[in-house]
Amino acid sequence: MSAPASSRARPAGPGDGTPEQIHLTWGDDPARSMVVSWASPDQAVRPRVRIGQRVIPAEERAYTDGLNGQTVWTYHARVHGLRPGATYGYAVTADNDGSATDPFSATFSTAPEGRAAFRFTSFGDLATPNTNWVQSYGQSAYAVGAVESFQPLFHVLNGDLCYGDLNPGAQPDVWRDFGNNNQASAAYRPWMPVPGNHEIEFGNGPQGFASYLTRYTLPSNGTPGLEGRWYSYRIGSVLFVSLSADDVVYQDAGAFVAGPAALTPAPPHPPIPAGTSLYVRGYSGGAQTRWLETTLAAARRDASIDWIVAQMHQCACSSSRAGNGSDLGIREEWLPLFDRYEVDLVLCGHDHDYERSFPVRGFDIGAGSDAATGAAVDTRRPHPVTTVDSGVFDTSQGTVHLILGCGGTDANLDVFGVSRTQLEAKVFTRRNRPVAGGPPTSDPGVYARADADAVEDATWSARRDTATGYGIAVFDVNPGTEAGGQTSITVTHYHAVGADPVNPATGAPGAPTDDYTQFETFTLIRPRSDGRRWHAKQSTAAIST
Ligand SMILES: [Fe+2]
Repeated sequence: MSAPASSRARPAGPGDGTPEQIHLTWGDDPARSMVVSWASPDQAVRPRVRIGQRVIPAEERAYTDGLNGQTVWTYHARVHGLRPGATYGYAVTADNDGSATDPFSATFSTAPEGRAAFRFTSFGDLATPNTNWVQSYGQSAYAVGAVESFQPLFHVLNGDLCYGDLNPGAQPDVWRDFGNNNQASAAYRPWMPVPGNHEIEFGNGPQGFASYLTRYTLPSNGTPGLEGRWYSYRIGSVLFVSLSADDVVYQDAGAFVAGPAALTPAPPHPPIPAGTSLYVRGYSGGAQTRWLETTLAAARRDASIDWIVAQMHQCACSSSRAGNGSDLGIREEWLPLFDRYEVDLVLCGHDHDYERSFPVRGFDIGAGSDAATGAAVDTRRPHPVTTVDSGVFDTSQGTVHLILGCGGTDANLDVFGVSRTQLEAKVFTRRNRPVAGGPPTSDPGVYARADADAVEDATWSARRDTATGYGIAVFDVNPGTEAGGQTSITVTHYHAVGADPVNPATGAPGAPTDDYTQFETFTLIRPRSDGRRWHAKQSTAAIST
């Protein structure tokens, strides 16, 4: 695969300001604004975007990596005053752009205004195609190509972007390979990310998000000091709500030092002892959940918004056995709000597979048990409103969860839990600290992450892809034709059979592939909000088993 660092000839003068890692994100109003972001190897001189006759100066943001001491230069141009549903050409350059005579140029399209049909795509856990890096794999290049093949209006990227934290001496170089891989799509249509556990990096800010936050300019959440971590934006009749689940999950999955050696950063930072983890649960002090309730309530008062799609990295409904499973923190903190405000769809990553839930509402009390002792544990198991897999689901009656951690890492996790009679899910119900000397190691100086502490029968699990851990979900929004009528989203999941490095079911070795074929399709329906008086639901319709 490609080398980790550029060997391009540098221009004469004050460093190399050649734009790279060029990517788009929606501005605060996706119908009228767009943000163009990029990085350059050295500080850029007069970084700017040209669009039509306008020249828009870019804001500079830099950070110095807390582990290897490298300074990263990024640039962000906010383009306002655009027309809805229009396509624009743009160019990116600087005075010290090595390609100044023929600067990078591309096109983008703004969002439509009002109720309109559009397509978006989604996956998470992408990594980079540079196999020098831990967790990187060639499939991540084909995954970017898959986005382009479906030509969505935009792409939803569900966290664990590049796994810089697992390559602690070279975090900025991993991000660079990630950005340059994505540019083939993200320079042409917005890619909207959320932070995952692998965006939490030692030495890079209070939650470890400095690299993520420096590289992305995202819609405002109006929360001083916590901008960029969560946000919402509206496309047509759909509100997208992007959440930072690291704030609420119990599992301890940020950067940690496995040992036996300490992690030694560049001076002047002191060594980080083996067993240290960066656990950020509760970092917003409840601000994110308060913002979420305010945002959802406003959306349901708005007769022009039909759909609410939530995006987060970790999972409330995953039955991956090889991966992490589900987390009680999300179920406690956010699922009651998803019930009350009829969130239609939740897009996740984290487990490197594809899984779909039935529509769920409320929860079953006392359905879980301790993984070690078998004692009863209340996992607040989401309650399926139907277990008939009809292919058409009314999400005004229950929320559908999709696990889409199927981007491009080298660690497919498409092995699912089964007890003697039922599908089974692991559930984290308490903080799990890294364990010294535990399985799979017996070295007392080496730490490993503990598995989930509880299990439950996964009555909510509707469909699991056991053929491969790689794929992409494609969503087509049909706004409907009349006030008070029905609107729908058709979802088709395409998967890359044969891409698993080793197929867990057959043991057959695989290789990266561009051959994405249909796995399943289903349709979500709900009544339009312009002909309906909406009433908040009970917050937690508990159902005893
Ligand atoms: Fe993850």
